Amino acid sequence: MVSFWMDGRVVEVEPGATLLQAAQRAEIEIPVFCYHPELKVAGNCRMCLVEVVGVSKPVASCATPVREGMVVFTQNQKIHEDRAGVLEFLLINHPLDCPICDQAGECDLQDLSLLYGQDRSRFSFPKRQVANKNLGPLIHTVMTRCIHCTLCIRFAEEVAGVPEIGALHRGEQMEIATYLQGALTSELSGNLVDLCPVGALNGAPYAFRARSWELTKTNSIDVLDGVGSAIQIHTHGPDVVRILPRCSPSTNGSWISDKTRFACDGLKFQRLDRPYVRGPDGLLKEASWQEAFQAIRKALLGLRPEEKAGLVGDLVDLESLSLFQDLMEAWKTPFVDCRQDGARLRGGPRAHYLFNSTFDGLDQADFILLVGTNPRREAPVLNARIRKNHLTRNVSVALLGAPADLTYPLFFQENRVAVLQETLQGHPVLSKRLEASQKPLLILGQGALRRPDGERILDLCIQIAEKYGLIHPQDYPQWCGFNILHMAAARVGALDLGLVPQEEDVDVEAILTRCRQGEIRALYLLGVDEVPLQGLEKTFVIYQGHHGEAGASVADVILPGAAYTEKPGLYVNSEGRVQEAYAACPPPGEAREDWQILTELLAFLGVSKGPQTLQEVRRKLSFKNPSLDHTQPFRTPSWQPYIPLHPRVPLSPAPFQETLENFYMTDVMSRHSPTMAACSQAQQALKQRDQESC
Ligand code: SF4
Ligand code: SF4
Ligand code: FES
Repeated sequence: MVSFWMDGRVVEVEPGATLLQAAQRAEIEIPVFCYHPELKVAGNCRMCLVEVVGVSKPVASCATPVREGMVVFTQNQKIHEDRAGVLEFLLINHPLDCPICDQAGECDLQDLSLLYGQDRSRFSFPKRQVANKNLGPLIHTVMTRCIHCTLCIRFAEEVAGVPEIGALHRGEQMEIATYLQGALTSELSGNLVDLCPVGALNGAPYAFRARSWELTKTNSIDVLDGVGSAIQIHTHGPDVVRILPRCSPSTNGSWISDKTRFACDGLKFQRLDRPYVRGPDGLLKEASWQEAFQAIRKALLGLRPEEKAGLVGDLVDLESLSLFQDLMEAWKTPFVDCRQDGARLRGGPRAHYLFNSTFDGLDQADFILLVGTNPRREAPVLNARIRKNHLTRNVSVALLGAPADLTYPLFFQENRVAVLQETLQGHPVLSKRLEASQKPLLILGQGALRRPDGERILDLCIQIAEKYGLIHPQDYPQWCGFNILHMAAARVGALDLGLVPQEEDVDVEAILTRCRQGEIRALYLLGVDEVPLQGLEKTFVIYQGHHGEAGASVADVILPGAAYTEKPGLYVNSEGRVQEAYAACPPPGEAREDWQILTELLAFLGVSKGPQTLQEVRRKLSFKNPSLDHTQPFRTPSWQPYIPLHPRVPLSPAPFQETLENFYMTDVMSRHSPTMAACSQAQQALKQRDQESC
C-alpha cells in the first residue's frame, strides 16, 4: 500500500491508484467533468485540479498517480480559485439555457457553477453557436452546450465498440459529431445521455416532458432480456417517462441497452384496461371481473385433464408463475410449457440451464467459445463486458454461429454445427485452444437450443465442457464455465418451477396442434404473444396479459394484467439470481397485478381456500424451490452429471440462424413503442446506406 497526506489526513491506497481514486476512497469530494470510473482517463477538463506540495502548478487529480509520502491539498483557497478559473473558461461560450434545458436539476455544470461560479461575466462578445447533430432517434442534441469532455467519444470507442463519434476541428472550432451523419450503430447508445455531464446529449423521447425534480424514482429490474439489469424507473404522475441504469457491478455495471431504456413508451399503447368476454356473436365485450371468472368456470366444467393446457410467456413474474403452476397442478394437465421459442431445455439440475460462471466469471475466463448466440443483440451489456475483457486482458473469443459483428475480433469463426463434434474428437484449432486454457468458458445461446437438434447441441456442449476442463468441481469456489444465455426474463424461473411437459414429444407446437384438432378444449395463455395462435376456434382461450396483441385477439376471456413497471415481482436472470422489482405506477383502468388475478381465480375455482397475500405466495415459492428464496444470498448450483434425453437425435447440417432479426422489437412492449419503431427504421436506413455504398 502507498500512504500519503491528503488535506491533513493520512490516506492509504494500493499502488497505481490516482489522487482522485484515493480521494473518493477517503470520502473527499473533488469535482470532475471528464472522469468516469469505467472509461480511460482523458484529463482534459481540468476541473479536478489539486495542489501537490513541491509541484509549482496545480495537477489534474484524475491523471496523477499517488506517490509515497506526497502531500496534497484539495480544498484550499488557491485550488478554489483555480477551479473557478476553469469554470469561467467553460462558461464563456455556454448558453444561458438552464430554464429550458432538460439537464437542469441534474447538471454537473449547473451544480459546480453554484460552488465555483461568479455572478457576472468578464466576456461581452457573442457566444459561439454550434449546429446540432443527427445522432438518430434516441438522442436529442444541443451541441452549443457541449464542454468537450470527450466522455461520449471514449464510451463509443471503448465500451460500445463503434468508433463513430469524434472531435472535428481544433481550438474554439472544435465540435463533437458523428463522422457520418446518422444514428449510432450501437445497442448501447442511450448511455451517452447519462454520461454527458451537461445538456448537450439528451434522451429524445424524454425531451421537454418533465423536470427532474418532479419525477418519482423507483428502483427495479429490467425484464426485456435475460441479464436482469438493475434500473431506476422515473415516473411523472402515472406515466413512466424514462428508465435509467442503476450501478450493479455483478449484472449490468453502469450500462443498460437502448431497448431497456427507451421501450417504456410502449407501455402507453394498446393496453388492456378491463376484462373482456367473447359473446355468442363472436365479439369481445367489456365485462366485470366476476363475469370473466364465471365464463372461465363455465368453460372448464366437465373437461378432463388432457383437455386443458397452459402456456407461459417471457415477461411473467415468479409469483405469477408459481400460482399458475398451482392451477395447472389442480387441472392435472400434462400440457404445460414455458418455451415459447421452442428451446430444447427440459429443466433438470439447475446447472444445466444457467449461466453458471456468473457474469463476473467473464472477468476470469481466458478463452470464450460462443455457440449459436449473438450476445451483441441478445444481451448488449454482457457483450460490452466480453469486449472489455478482450481489450484489457486480451481474452480470445471464438464463435460457432451466424456471422456477426460483435464489436471485437474473433479468434475463430465458423457456421457449421459439426465443428462441435470435431471439437470433441480433436479440432485442430478449437481443441488445442481449449486444452491450453486455464479457465475456458462456453456460452450456449437460444439460437442453438431452438433448433430441432437443440438437445443434441446441448449434449455436445456439455460433453465439451466436461472433457476440456470447463468445470472444476474441486476448486473452491467451484469454477463452472458451461453457460446458457437466456433471452426471456421468465424462462429460468419457469424452468426452476418445472413448467415444462413431462412427456418428451410434447412442446408448445404440439400443444397448439392438439388445440387446433379440438383435442385440447381450454387453453390458458399467461402473457403468451410470441407463438402463432391462428386456428384456435375449437378451443376456449383465456388470455392474461397487459397488451392487446396476438394472445388477446384469439381469446374468449381477457384478464388484464400489469406490466413489469406496475407491479412488485421477482425475476430470475440467466445466472439464476433472484431479483426483486417494485411497482413504479399503478396498472391502467381495471387491470390488476397478475399474482392478484391468479390468486383470486384460484379461490374462485375452489383450488385454494381464499386469496393469498404476496408474502404468502413468496413463502410458498421458496418451499417449492429454495433457490427461489430472494431473501437468501445468491449462490451458484454445484455441477451434476448430465444424462442426455435424446442421445440419438442426429445433428442437422443446417447452419445456425440469427436469433434476433430486429433487436428493437422482441416483445409486446417494444413492438408498441414508437421509439423502438423509429430505431428499427433508422437501422433499416443504415443497412440500405451500407448496401448502396458497397
Ligand atoms: Fe444549464 Fe447545465 Fe443545461 Fe448548461 S447544460 S444550460 S448549465 S442545465
Ligand atoms: Fe462531453 Fe457531452 Fe460534449 Fe460529449 S457531447 S464531449 S459527453 S459534453
Ligand atoms: Fe480530471 Fe477532467 S476530471 S481533468
